[in-house]
Order: sequence, then C-alpha cells, then structure tokens
Amino acid sequence: MSDPRARARELARDAIARGDATGWFEQLYVESERDGLAISWVDLAPNPYLVEWLERKPTPPRGRALVVGCGYGDDAEFLAGRGLEVTAFDIAPSAVARCRSRFPGSRVRYLAADALRPPADWVAAFDLVFEAYTIQVLRGEVRAACARSIGSLVAPGGILLVVARSRTDDGPEGAMPWPLTRRELDAFGEPGLDLISLTELLEPGNPPVPRFVAEFAARG
Ligand SMILES: C[S@@+](CC[C@H](N)C(=O)[O-])C[C@H]1O[C@@H](n2cnc3c(N)ncnc32)[C@H](O)[C@@H]1O
Repeated sequence: MSDPRARARELARDAIARGDATGWFEQLYVESERDGLAISWVDLAPNPYLVEWLERKPTPPRGRALVVGCGYGDDAEFLAGRGLEVTAFDIAPSAVARCRSRFPGSRVRYLAADALRPPADWVAAFDLVFEAYTIQVLRGEVRAACARSIGSLVAPGGILLVVARSRTDDGPEGAMPWPLTRRELDAFGEPGLDLISLTELLEPGNPPVPRFVAEFAARG
C-alpha cells in the first residue's frame, strides 16, 4: 500500500516552493475524494487527547468553542455533544463540505476560514479553542504567526488546548508533518495566555511519536 503521506508531501513541497504555505490542503482533499486516497491525519474519530482532557476536567468548559483546522469534523462533533456551542473551520472548503455532509443537522457551525486571517469578530471570542496538528503542517514563519493568531481567539478566562507533534529545539525538522519545538509552542501564549499545563508524551508506534498536550489560560 502506498504511503498516504507521500502525495501530501509532494503537494506541500510544490505549494511552499511557490510561496503558498496553505494552498496544498484543498488540493489534497480534492484528490483524496476524487481518487479515494487516504489522508494520513483522517481517522474519523475524536482526538483521544481531547477526550481524555475533557473527561479529567472537574469543571468542564462551557460556552463557545472553536475547533481550528477541523478536517472532517470529529472533534467539533465531540465538543458539541458535550454541550458546547461549537464553531469549526478549515482552510479547505472540501473538508468543510464533507463535515456538513457527514453530519447533516449538526449543531456545529462549519465554515471555511484561514487561521492566519480569522474574522475580526473571533478575536477574544471563544471560551475554549482546540487546535490539533495544524501548525505542524505549516512551514516557516507562518507557524509562529498562526500560533499567535490562534491564541488571540481565546476569550479572557478561556482555555486553549493544543495537541502537536514535538521535537527538541535542536532536533531535526524532518519531513512534513514538522514537529513543534518548545519555543514554537510558546508562541500560542504571546497574545496574553499562560501555559498552565504541559504534558510531553511518547505515543506508542513504530517509531513512537513525541507529542505536546498543552493547556493555556487567557488572562482576564
Ligand atoms: C494535519 S490536519 C489536522 C486535522 C484535524 N485537526 C485533525 O486533528 O484530524 C491540518 C488541518 O488544518 C487545515 N489547515 C491548514 N492550515 C490552515 C489554516 N491556516 N487555517 C485553517 N485550517 C488550516 C488543513 O486543511 C487540515 O485539515
């Protein structure tokens, strides 16, 4: 079976060479739907670190939630099922269309948007922002810009939960997905959030995958 990352890496390489950091996501979703190809990050299940985090919370978050780079919508549906009022967005319109067709009648508001240029009325608007694996598929200076932009969407007193592949500051960048360093993780907090919990874990696999699960709280 072919490696589902191979085509994604080709598309990423070509788009980035053209100076377009995000142009390849829609291409990948379109090709995948057209040719029936797997996408490496699509598992059609809520993120287990999100599920575990929410289940451990003595006081579960309430109010408005935002799911960044929502893919096919499983994390958004999970949060909506827990009583949150969820907005979920992805830069790829085909992914958003698939969310709508997978979950007809969903209470989630799905839309296409760019985390680098979010709507102005999203700033400081969400009680919970969930970000999994978006920064690590971006390359170069847009990574920190995108992390800061995501951090700016958390309402005063709200929470940002980040799940990402991790690497040491001097570790090799490797191939897409490019893991985050601690310094890159800190960029989420720059708009005025404090890192209140950080779990660094090694997910079993061949090879095992180091990850950050980080919770930030917005001052206010
Ligand atoms: C690695 S996938 C992760 C998808 C989903 N969060 C998950 O955990 O399964 C990254 C997702 O982010 C989306 N994405 C990339 N850059 C984005 C941006 N600037 N704004 C919004 N979505 C973006 C991609 O289209 C893709 O669906």
